[in-house]
Amino acid sequence: MARIAWLNGDYLPLADARISPLDRGFLFADGIYEVTAVLDGRLVDSAAHLARLQRSAGEIGLCLPVTFDELEAIERELIRRNGLDQGTTYLQLTRGTAAERDFHADDDLAPTLFLYTQAKDIIGNPAARTGVAVVTTPDLRWARRDIKSVSLLAQVLAKQVAHDAGAFEAWLVEDGHVTEGSSSSALILTADGALVTRPNSHAILPGCTRAAVQVLAEQHGLRWEERLFTVEEALMAREAMLTSASNFVLPIISIDGHAIGDGRPGPVAERLRGVYIETARAQN
Ligand code: PDD
Repeated sequence: MARIAWLNGDYLPLADARISPLDRGFLFADGIYEVTAVLDGRLVDSAAHLARLQRSAGEIGLCLPVTFDELEAIERELIRRNGLDQGTTYLQLTRGTAAERDFHADDDLAPTLFLYTQAKDIIGNPAARTGVAVVTTPDLRWARRDIKSVSLLAQVLAKQVAHDAGAFEAWLVEDGHVTEGSSSSALILTADGALVTRPNSHAILPGCTRAAVQVLAEQHGLRWEERLFTVEEALMAREAMLTSASNFVLPIISIDGHAIGDGRPGPVAERLRGVYIETARAQN
């Protein structure tokens, strides 16, 4: 079955989708993106992802060329046409294609909007059972990490560091404090039972999954604490975990080769993963 994408108004086979090399997304990484989970063929936390998309667009002076309802309709149609049960939708919006490479973009440029879907067994991911390893690496990103920019070179390099170390994710470190993962939010459970994560600011992407997990954690009587934490504190934590649309909640069992807790997935991470999945399933 041909995979179907959506590009600037048309559904078409992904293999036939064409974007000009003069597109500003390609030349300047002048664009933004969103990744939304799909579970049982339905979008998860869609409103939060759309709100973040609109915010990212606004922060770089772009307007969404379609409404939220139209976007969700496109995503649902892509899910239907691709027979997607579990995975993600990917959406990218760039400032568009100009006639010449020029740092300055004319206001009347038509933005490029591209969507497609990726299949992934998020629920059955073996990493949820085994837990994952994380390594730390300096945070080399720019100063507006709250914008979900397609300028991901620093994240790509960090992911390579993780891959080379046999780890699943890289935790990014700035001034001794963990900012977040290269493509996920970072949380630790302290010895006194608080779930600690960095407060939203320009330093991190406001994770939609993390926001949903916060509500669930508080409903389940966990203390939620937003503050900076160091790598040393993370190494001493009772548990560590990451959250993202493409992984939901994953337990972390080691950081830089040091076991976290007893080196096995922690009960709080497992519980939060379970309730997140239940809530996601009940959403639609
Ligand atoms: N990454 N922090 C960063 C730097 C991210 O790239 C992501 C998401 C998150 C988690 O955000 P959310 O829970 O809204 O997915 C945090 C996506 C999944 C990606 O780039 O594929």
